[in-house]
Amino acid sequence: MTKADLIVGIQWGDEGKGKIVDMLSQNYDLVCRSGGGHNAGHTIWVDGVKYALHLVPSGILHPNIINIIGNGVVVNPEVLIKEMSQFKNLEGRFYISDRAHLNLAYHSLIDQAKERLKGDKAIGTTGKGIGPAYADKISRTGHRVGELLNPELLSTNLMNDFETNRVYLDALGVQIPSKDEIYQELKGFKEALAPYIADTTQILWRAMSENKKILLEGAQGTLLDIDHGTYPYVTSSNTIAAGACTGLGLSPKSIGDVIGILKAYTTRVGNGAFPTEDHGVDGQTMCEVGKEYGTTTGRRRRCGWLDAVAVRYASMLNGVDSYALMKLDVLDGFKTIKICKAYEYQGEIIDYMPANLDEVTPIYEELEGWDSISGIKHYDDLPLNAKRYINRIEELTGVRVSIVSTSPERSDTILR
Ligand code: GDP
Ligand code: IMO
Ligand code: MG
Repeated sequence: MTKADLIVGIQWGDEGKGKIVDMLSQNYDLVCRSGGGHNAGHTIWVDGVKYALHLVPSGILHPNIINIIGNGVVVNPEVLIKEMSQFKNLEGRFYISDRAHLNLAYHSLIDQAKERLKGDKAIGTTGKGIGPAYADKISRTGHRVGELLNPELLSTNLMNDFETNRVYLDALGVQIPSKDEIYQELKGFKEALAPYIADTTQILWRAMSENKKILLEGAQGTLLDIDHGTYPYVTSSNTIAAGACTGLGLSPKSIGDVIGILKAYTTRVGNGAFPTEDHGVDGQTMCEVGKEYGTTTGRRRRCGWLDAVAVRYASMLNGVDSYALMKLDVLDGFKTIKICKAYEYQGEIIDYMPANLDEVTPIYEELEGWDSISGIKHYDDLPLNAKRYINRIEELTGVRVSIVSTSPERSDTILR
């Protein structure tokens, strides 16, 4: 039996997972998504052409790879169908778990209404219905992708749900559609998606027994994990490595190499603590040079320095074997580069992440910067100060950097 290798985001998402999954997938037979929904946004550049993916795994750009959306994902059929239409001949190389939960239009309306009501306490969600869809799943009131195969029954069940929740939905100002509207919509979803709905866990187990190579594509980032992230400013799923097991039906013993995707600095979209955020010109430069605007919502990402304390914590949670260090070129031209190596917390110096990050003050060390590394493809060609930065990350985290990314293009990548 083969083991499945795993890609996981180490910070607050948008580390560059899509680029690395796309680049590595040529060595794999299957690429699988295990969690999240279309809150994810993965931008991939190949030969100057840009692809933006939200639900479809980033292995889709390689025609010989089988792509799977696992049971742990919340699927908005309308978004999925639109995204699938960019690609040809998907039959036989793309499957959606019959156990994945549906994320329907009313979930987005609830998400947006609740955010509005929270005012300045809003989480800053993507507004894509992720929280309400997972809430339905956990409350055992959700509906699964397999139910799309019987639109008549599903539309009846949905109308019953709406009736049960009428007072709540009315209070939030969420309009309830008619039964016929829902039925027609679900019928369309069935026609488009039926050929792809499958028991994906069985497909995976069979592939493993045939020694096929499997890559698991994480969405979001470790610090957005519902249990281990900066709660409540997190997403509603387990984004860490363990989530890949529950989200696909794999045992912990089936996980092979874990590659942590680590941005050379830090970004965060939405609200919540961010100790190393830089509100000055450095953060502004990272944002402009790194084009830090969300793939999903277009929001400006907050930017700041690398936080080695958070990175160490995330690496332990995931059992990271090595890092892909992304967007190192964005730090080109900085005179000094800062890394947070510890926090000051309640009068003490600590080297771990406490439950409440609001109260920590980062303690930095400074390294000398470099001129330009953009587009470099060989480790030996990196300037000494860039190598020193990489070595320092390795020392502070105890994890090796095995990949360095020097531009958005697939080919501008150093393998060490
Ligand atoms: P993901 O959600 O982790 O897949 O990351 P996103 O795609 O949301 O955000 C990463 C952004 O950085 C995308 O626009 C990528 O094209 C871009 N990117 C990835 N790697 C690099 C890199 O090494 N250098 C630069 N300058 N941009 C990169
Ligand atoms: P990828 O896969 C960055 C953030 C949102 C918000 C919080 C909750 O591209 O790395 P949600 O809509 O999930 O309920 O929002 O989580 N968030 C992400 N931030 N990258 C993502 O995905 C994200 N998915 C969710 O901005 O702060
Ligand atoms: Mg993203």
